[in-house]
Amino acid sequence: MRIDRTEEFLLTTETKQAISALLHLCFPGYPAHQTYYKYPPTFRYLLWEGKELIGHMGVVSRPIGYEGSLFPVFGIMDLCISPTHQHQKLATYLLSELEELGKKSGIDFILLIAKERELYLNNNFQAASNLCKWLLLTDNRALGLVRRELTDLMVKPLQLRSWPSGAIDLMGPLF
Ligand SMILES: CC(C)(COP(=O)(O)OP(=O)(O)OC[C@H]1O[C@@H](n2cnc3c(N)ncnc32)[C@H](O)[C@@H]1OP(=O)(O)O)[C@@H](O)C(=O)NCCC(=O)NCCS
Repeated sequence: MRIDRTEEFLLTTETKQAISALLHLCFPGYPAHQTYYKYPPTFRYLLWEGKELIGHMGVVSRPIGYEGSLFPVFGIMDLCISPTHQHQKLATYLLSELEELGKKSGIDFILLIAKERELYLNNNFQAASNLCKWLLLTDNRALGLVRRELTDLMVKPLQLRSWPSGAIDLMGPLF
């Protein structure tokens, strides 16, 4: 098994096809031939077994805003493991790799939105609910800002700062 961390702009056509196929397999209804829902991540972790892509985690690296200050975060999108390789702690492994990278890079929080929380609670994430502001994207167009309570946030503080309870500015599209 091999793990790669790849910047979005370096992805080859072949790798994009493998990502798209895995996303389609793991997320029923994922748009065909796409490698992201609405906006691409900054980098991705890719798990390979030989030439087969068996795991994927997209990561958005950006600051978010709180009370006029900016905090660097890693936002996780489209974490998935091929059905034939699930329950072998591979997602846990990807999360731990990202945590290690974030800690040494001065990232304050790992953040994601998840309906099913078990994997993340097992990995010491905490559930959070915040009023959030983000950029709404539809059909490759920015339609404006949305302000709404997000009740299914999962967060993991990586430095000393604890996650705030107040209004968060996501400073871009949802992860
Ligand atoms: C969720 C997922 C990434 C977990 O991958 P994995 O390598 O099997 O995870 P791990 O082995 O590290 O941990 C497994 C634990 O995660 C939890 N889990 C299983 N499915 C889950 C899900 N859809 N969401 C959250 N947690 C889940 C369970 O507690 C499981 O424990 P078990 O193995 O004792 O049943 C994988 O099941 C998957 O790709 N599912 C389809 C896509 C998806 O729902 N992604 C999550 C987006 S938030």
